[in-house]
Amino acid sequence: MITHRPRRNRKSEAIRKLVQENEVTVNDFIFPLFLIDGKNKKSEVASMPGIFRFSSDLLLKEIESCLNLGINTFALFPNIEEKLKDKKATESWNKKGLYLRTLTEVKKKFPEAVIMTDVAMDPYSSDGHDGIVKNGEILNDETLEVLGKMALAQAQCGADIIGPSDMMDGRVAHLRDVLDDNGFTNVSIMSYTAKYASAFYGPFRDALDSAPKFGDKKTYQMNPANSKEALLEAELDFSEGADFLMVKPALSYLDIIKSLNDNFVLPIAAYNVSGEYAMVKAAAQKGWIDNKKIRDEILLSIKRAGASVILTYFAKEWALDHK
Ligand code: PBG
Repeated sequence: MITHRPRRNRKSEAIRKLVQENEVTVNDFIFPLFLIDGKNKKSEVASMPGIFRFSSDLLLKEIESCLNLGINTFALFPNIEEKLKDKKATESWNKKGLYLRTLTEVKKKFPEAVIMTDVAMDPYSSDGHDGIVKNGEILNDETLEVLGKMALAQAQCGADIIGPSDMMDGRVAHLRDVLDDNGFTNVSIMSYTAKYASAFYGPFRDALDSAPKFGDKKTYQMNPANSKEALLEAELDFSEGADFLMVKPALSYLDIIKSLNDNFVLPIAAYNVSGEYAMVKAAAQKGWIDNKKIRDEILLSIKRAGASVILTYFAKEWALDHK
C-alpha cells in the first residue's frame, strides 16, 4: 500500500493552483530602461531583441504604456556620448545633462512612477570602470565622493530609489549620510549587494557602450566561486542602512538569493541580467525553446529562490501576456 501519493495534489488544474506555493505578479517587477540623447529616437539593442534605447520623449511614452500594464517601477540607465566621458564621471552630476534632465521630466509627468537610478561611474567614465582609475588601480575612497555627488543630484531630481551598482566598500553608509544630511531621508537605497564579476553583463555593456577600456572588474565585483562573501557584503549593507539587498546576476546565483533571504529580514531583489535575457531570445529565435514558457519558468524560479523583487527585461512582455 502507498500511503503518500503526492500526485493527488497534482490531479487537476484547480488543485494544482490551490497548493501552488509561489506566484509571479506584475508588482514584483522593476523594468530597466535605456536612455539615449536626441529626439524621436528608438534603437534596438542588437544582442537584446525587443529591448530599445529611447530618447527622452519616447521614454516618457514607454513609461506611460508600462504604467498602463501595471508596471510601476523602472531602473533608468543612460547611454552617454563618448565626448562627455571623463576620468571623474563629471557628467554624472550635471543637472543639464541627459540623465538628470530626463529624470526630472519623468517624475514631473509621472509622480506616481517609482524611479530607481543607477549610481556607478561606468556609463560616464572614459575608463569604462565603476570607479576612479589611477595607475591601473580602481580607487575606493576617492570614488565614494563621486558616488555621493551623483546620488545627491539624482535625489534632487526626484529619484525614489538609489541603486549603487559599483561595489565600492562603504558606499551604502556614505550615500545614506549624504542623502540624510541633505534632507533626503525618504529616498531608499537598493544596494547591489552581491554583484558578481560576470560574463552575463555583455549585452548591457553593448547597450550603453560602457565596457571597461582595459582589464576587468574583478577587483571590485565578486568572484563567482564565493558564497560566504555574499553574506559579508549583505551584513555590511544591512548595517550601513540599505533598504533592499540585491543579487546579480540571478540564474547562476539562485543559491545566493536563497541564502540572503534566509539570513536577512530585508526584501531581496534579483537582477535577471542582459545575458540571461539574450540567451532566451537567441534560442527562441532559432525555434529551440518556447520563449513564453521558458521566461515564465525562469521568473518563477527567481521568486521561489527568495527574491520578492525582480529586475528583468522581460517585464513588459510578461505584463502584455498576462493582462
Ligand atoms: C554597471 C552595471 C552593469 C549592469 C548594471 N549596472 C554592468 C557592469 O557592471 O559592467 C548590468 C546589467 C545587465 O547586464 O543587465 N554599473
